[in-house]
Amino acid sequence: MKTKNKIVLAIIIITIIFINKVDLRGKLNYSNESYKQEDKISDENSNLLLVNKSNPISEDYKPNKLVKPKVSFLKDTKDESRHMDEVAANALEELFKCAKKEGIILIGSSAYRSYESQVKIYNENVLERGIDYANKYVAIPGKSEHQTGLSIDVTNKSRCFDKTSIEAQWLANNAHRFGFILRYPEGKEDITGYNYEPWHIRYVGKEHALKIFTDNITLEEYMKMI
Ligand code: DAL
Ligand code: ZN
Repeated sequence: MKTKNKIVLAIIIITIIFINKVDLRGKLNYSNESYKQEDKISDENSNLLLVNKSNPISEDYKPNKLVKPKVSFLKDTKDESRHMDEVAANALEELFKCAKKEGIILIGSSAYRSYESQVKIYNENVLERGIDYANKYVAIPGKSEHQTGLSIDVTNKSRCFDKTSIEAQWLANNAHRFGFILRYPEGKEDITGYNYEPWHIRYVGKEHALKIFTDNITLEEYMKMI
């Protein structure tokens, strides 16, 4: 190979390595703050762990016990994302069972996501839809409550889970009966930091969920009240 070609090849290889490194950590600047929020959370109220744009969890945070809830998931849902925190998983099974009895068929789409999975999802969204869109719908790694194992995105057979669908309406009105809240409600975007997501529910336990539902507030507002 000629020297000129060798130089060109070397430049291409160095550029590819550089782009990959920057893409994963540097350019998007989502390295985590050094403190560990979860260290301050006792077992008793761990269901109230607040994770949002201002409250990150550490990269290595993993729920105590992840299990697979016995519910239907989309065919393309990865094995990891079929897992949830054990308590949340049990509550989810009840929720899906009761929904079915009431004629509502729900399907799991994405539950637990490791930090690394969130990196992938966030980067894909930035590349496909742009950073402004991504930041309205997808959390920066370390700031997603999917990493707590307490959240799940739910869908329906038509995979059209907007507020006009009966499944989304049922979920909004009934999730609290099983200890879940609609985490990103319509009209609360300034508080949650995300657009309305009728599909994303978060386990907090029945008592807290009922209060959050009846007062029509977000987890952010509730945490300031208690
Ligand atoms: N869609 C929510 C904000 C997440 O990515 O965690
Ligand atoms: Zn979600």
